[in-house]
Formats: sequence, structure tokens, C-alpha cells
Amino acid sequence: MPILETRGLTKRFGGLVAVNGVDLSVEQGEIFAMIGPNGAGKTTVFNLVAGLYKPTSGQILFNGKSVYPVREFWRNYLPPLAGYYTVADAVRRRLGLGPMPLGLRPHAVTALGIARTFQNIRLFSYMTALENVMVGEHPRMHAKVWDSLLRTPFARREERKVRDRARELLRFVGLERHQDQYARNLPYGFQRRLEIARALGTQPKLLMLDEPAAGFNPQEKNELMQLIQDIRGQGITVFLIEHDMKVVMEVSERIVVLDYGEKIAEGPPQKVRTDPRVIEAYLGKSA
Ligand SMILES: Nc1ncnc2c1ncn2[C@@H]1O[C@H](COP(=O)(O)OP(=O)(O)OP(=O)(O)O)[C@@H](O)[C@H]1O
Ligand SMILES: [Mg+2]
Repeated sequence: MPILETRGLTKRFGGLVAVNGVDLSVEQGEIFAMIGPNGAGKTTVFNLVAGLYKPTSGQILFNGKSVYPVREFWRNYLPPLAGYYTVADAVRRRLGLGPMPLGLRPHAVTALGIARTFQNIRLFSYMTALENVMVGEHPRMHAKVWDSLLRTPFARREERKVRDRARELLRFVGLERHQDQYARNLPYGFQRRLEIARALGTQPKLLMLDEPAAGFNPQEKNELMQLIQDIRGQGITVFLIEHDMKVVMEVSERIVVLDYGEKIAEGPPQKVRTDPRVIEAYLGKSA
């Protein structure tokens, strides 16, 4: 069973179809890449999977479980709630809000085991590197508010564990010596790696990286490829968006190509690289 699957995934923004009927299937344990020209819809696919955007239509499944839509679930198993949704939908339509959002919310998607990084780095600038990773671990913490307020032994033990694990993750991405620096003071390449560490803090089964090599020099790219392989070595499936062809071709086992929101090719790197449709999408039609 694939770890992530989309069926007919479609997202419209007004008149623009950013993602158009895309079927994807990411296998457990692989390094899977998505490429395509600027504006092809790659980041939108990530945002849909992560629950940031609601699909216009289509399905998203994680480990065979529906992430979108989830309404069928209520319809099938909890008919009384389906009634509630119908009424809520009617009210929302009256107010011009559109139907109930039916996908999982981003935090619920994270809890399932999906983590991501952003094309434009999003860190907490005035938190240290260590604190940024600890924030990533937060969804997996169990201490309740009163534990934290009363600083119960449980809360303290958990905080120590979270801190240790954050240090371990910083070591894993090669940032252990910078743990006390504000994120904003770290060089660009370090910030990118810090974002990966924070994502790993959520203990994902699937890690989605949006152009992790952007702005990297050749040595940083090599280190990144090693890191991606190490992450996969830990049993985490990697779903990668990347423009750098060298990185994509070397690190990924399977590639899917989007162009104007549609899937135009799919397969192992050597096949995709020579596919006429892919070459055309990147270079334009030759006269
Ligand atoms: N929130 C939004 N509202 C309106 N249009 C959007 C929104 N997000 C993306 N788009 C449009 O959808 C299309 C796909 O954008 P997307 O960011 O997914 O492309 P991409 O493949 O990630 O491109 P790039 O390689 O430049 O990052 C673009 O035309 C973009 O302008
Ligand atoms: Mg993008």
C-alpha cells in the first residue's frame, strides 16, 4: 500500500486550475521527487496534502486512510453527524461561506505523521535553533497545561526528553554547535537544515521538502543529498520538490513531472530525463 496517494487531485484558484486531476502514489520508504516548471502546481500539491488548502475535488489518502475528504467517513459510520454537517453546510451557504471544510486540519495531518518544510523558510526568528526544534516536537508531547503550570515531575521529565531529542536532531542535521543561536542569525543554509530538523521533531513517517536545495552551493547540495538519504535510512519516506536537476536525478528513485497543474510524466530518473514531453515542458517546443 502506498504511504501517500492522491486521486484526481484538483485545486482551482478562481479561473486558474493550479492542480488538475493529479494521481500520485508515493511508496513507503522511497525518495520520491516532484519536478516541473515554475507555477506548475508543485507547492500547491504540498499545501493540499498538508491540509493548508482544501482541494476543489479529488482524494488524498495516507496509509490508506482518507485525509480528504473525511465527510464520507461521517456519512458512513456516524449518520447522526452527517445530519449536522448537512445543516451546517446549509447555514454556511446562506452566509456565503461555502460548504463545511471537510479535510483534516493541518495539526491533524501532522499528528498522522506528515511533516513539511516551506519553499520560503518559516522559522521562529527570535527563538534559538534548539527552541525551534522543540516547537516541532510539541505535537507529540503529552503534558497537560496543569502539568506545565505546576511543573510536575512528569512535565519536567518530558521537557528534558524533548530537549535531548531536539539536540539529537540538531546533531543529525549538523547544527549542534549552533543550538543557542537565534534562528534569524543563522546563515541561510543552516536555516534550511534547521527547518528540516524541526519537521523531523514531529516524528513524521512522511517528510515533504519544498525546494530544499534552493540557493545552495555545490558542497551544500552534496551535504543535503546525504542528509536526505540519512533521513530515508531512518525509515522516513521523503517527498521532494526540487528544481536542481543534479540533486533530483541523483537522490530520487522515482520522479513525477507536473506542467500547468497536470501530471505529464512519471518514472525512474533516467526515463523521465529523456521523456520528450518533459524536455518540451522545460525548454519549450523546438521550432
Ligand atoms: N493561494 C493562491 N491563490 C491564488 N493562486 C495561487 C495560490 N497559490 C498558488 N497559486 C497559483 O497556482 C499556480 C501554481 O503555483 P505553485 O506555487 O503550486 O507552483 P510551483 O510549481 O510550486 O512553482 P514554483 O516552482 O515557482 O515554486 C501558480 O500559477 C500560482 O500563481
Ligand atoms: Mg513552489
